Amino acid sequence: NYYAILMAGGVGSRFWPVSTEEFPKQFHDMLGTGDTLIQKTFSRLSTLIPKENIFILTNEKYNDLVLEQLPEVNQRQVVLEPAMRNTAPCILYASLKIQKENPDAVMIVAPSDHWIEDEDAFTTNVKQAFEYCETNDALMTLGITPTFPNTGYGYIECGEASEEKISDVIQFREKPDYNTAKQFIAKGNFLWNAGIFMWSVSSVIKAFQEKQPGLYELFKTGIPTYNTEFEDDFIRDNYAKAENISVDYAIMESSTNVYVIPATFDWNDLGTWGSLYDKLDKDENNNAVVNAKTLTEDASGNMIRTKTDKVVVVDGLKDYIIVDKDEVLLIFPKSKEQDIKSVLQKVKDKY
Ligand code: GDD
Ligand code: MG
Repeated sequence: NYYAILMAGGVGSRFWPVSTEEFPKQFHDMLGTGDTLIQKTFSRLSTLIPKENIFILTNEKYNDLVLEQLPEVNQRQVVLEPAMRNTAPCILYASLKIQKENPDAVMIVAPSDHWIEDEDAFTTNVKQAFEYCETNDALMTLGITPTFPNTGYGYIECGEASEEKISDVIQFREKPDYNTAKQFIAKGNFLWNAGIFMWSVSSVIKAFQEKQPGLYELFKTGIPTYNTEFEDDFIRDNYAKAENISVDYAIMESSTNVYVIPATFDWNDLGTWGSLYDKLDKDENNNAVVNAKTLTEDASGNMIRTKTDKVVVVDGLKDYIIVDKDEVLLIFPKSKEQDIKSVLQKVKDKY
């Protein structure tokens, strides 16, 4: 009865120029391991979940990329969104499909682009969550020990923990402002939301029915047995009518049956070049290098990525992102990495 929903619809614009709208980061080998991020995520999930029960949610433009990179996946398992509406609509839609196939399903919802260091620990945490969700009406999260007041994450306030280390959640707060995040961290009983959820299909659908009745009504009529022309037509006509809202705001913040398992694995959501730099092995001068052959003198703290075996000589540069990709070369200070998104817009406007 184990299922997975793999979210692969994002664009990853902070990883430009490697990640682009035509070819987003989840379809790239960002870590230089030989596998793309979505391939790594798929294989991580398939240790616990039958491959045919892993559903991929993505934009219709990426259908070919998904089938090419995950040859074990059947078209039936790919939910193609005609428009980006954030995570709530796609999760509800896929959950309704899964419920039709198996009303007793217990599932994990996971992003396709995260770094998880210890896969065994991850599997142990997920298995524990599944066992709990099989018998309880629970919305289960994985919590990460926070290190600074990051305003891009959800925060989970932990209550009483059970013997098995599953805690009640006092509140779930998505993306608080900086001062609130600081207070949360000072209080000591808050964890970051890893963005990975586990629940039974009936619990998540019940939550949507209660908290987002409009969305539920919009989708519930259109879920046929999968892979029919009717479904294609339905999603084309109706998906874009859904509100653009993330699952965190849509159901997590206002639900009272949220629980958390503190993650026992190392986690990084690979949001920026700097977060990738943090996780990669470094050379003797602390440069992280993917694919390139480098000669670095008086150069440290740089994130360097090129096509395979390109020779790169760097001298006199500290804490920079150096990324070479076809017709684009980016040389950008790591301290300004958040601005890459807006730089990309300027480049598009100008060229
Ligand atoms: N299929 C599909 N369709 N996937 C989507 C869409 C969509 O319209 N929008 C986003 N995704 C995918 C992204 O590619 C990503 O893998 C995942 O859903 C989460 O979306 P993000 O946009 O990255 O969310 P976030 O980072 O702002 O916040 C979430 O993740 C944080 C941890 O990384 C929240 O769950 C936070 O609470 C959490 O702390
Ligand atoms: Mg994210």
